Amino acid sequence: MMIISREKEFAYTESDFQWIRTAVHKRVGISLNESKREMVYARVARRIRALNLKDFRSYRKILENTNSNELVEFVNAITTNVTAFFRENHHFEALANEFFPEIIKRNYSSKKIRIWSAGCSSGEEPYSIAITVKENIPESWDVKIIATDLDTNVLEKAKKGVYSIDAVSSIPKSRLKQWFWRGKGSNDSLVKVVPELQNIIDFKQLNLMGDWPHKGQFDIIFCRNVVIYFDKPTQRVLFDRYADILKDHGILFLGHSESLHGVSDRFQFIRQTMHRKVR
Ligand SMILES: C[S@@+](CC[C@H](N)C(=O)[O-])C[C@H]1O[C@@H](n2cnc3c(N)ncnc32)[C@H](O)[C@@H]1O
Repeated sequence: MMIISREKEFAYTESDFQWIRTAVHKRVGISLNESKREMVYARVARRIRALNLKDFRSYRKILENTNSNELVEFVNAITTNVTAFFRENHHFEALANEFFPEIIKRNYSSKKIRIWSAGCSSGEEPYSIAITVKENIPESWDVKIIATDLDTNVLEKAKKGVYSIDAVSSIPKSRLKQWFWRGKGSNDSLVKVVPELQNIIDFKQLNLMGDWPHKGQFDIIFCRNVVIYFDKPTQRVLFDRYADILKDHGILFLGHSESLHGVSDRFQFIRQTMHRKVR
């Protein structure tokens, strides 16, 4: 047994690292390269302490149990949930000025639009989409946003729709007034999204590496700042599944550092992380 370092609080072997690495890749698609050995130790040690365990071996047992929520906690410890309202605002401008008008023409007979926010974190992304929907799609249309994430903690926050006043500081006053309620008294540093936005969003836990229960196809998929943790083969499979579930001409939005280059030929690059399904 090769011990990586004897100086550590918990004995950490090469096989511990390789086991964790393989388990995480298989179950959530996250790829931890060799350089993440120390980072994995630090994050797992924190979990071992929090759970009052003895060592990596007992931690591995918990992670192995598919019924435990520990995988989610572990993923939380190694990934980021960072998000923001109207993050990469050019996506929302393109929705309002370009893609919604196009979809309204195409879906005129059904008057139905389906959007998926995949890896929605604490909800800022789907609520930004919902505001753009409400401002640009006729009220009589049937619009639904499915918002999913692996992490149940962020989903709880997303469902509540309560944010600090700082989180909405970049939203213009008129928009803020229309779509958020300001807290009163001891809650005056908080805002809550209006029910009208919550009513068109369905928040659900979903592991992108697992089965997708969606019925029907999507007009738009947002999957931004999620695949940065996935290796190319995992991305290839995921983007293929997105192409299968998008309607013809459907739009896929990626994060600012993500690209389909060399990963999928089923989309046409529009510009700046926006892609159209072509096959
Ligand atoms: C950085 S956040 C991105 C939030 C938002 N899309 C944005 O761009 O602002 C990445 C999210 O992806 C989620 N995630 C990572 N791996 C996942 C997986 N296998 N299935 C579902 N969600 C996953 C994380 O829990 C996290 O909330």
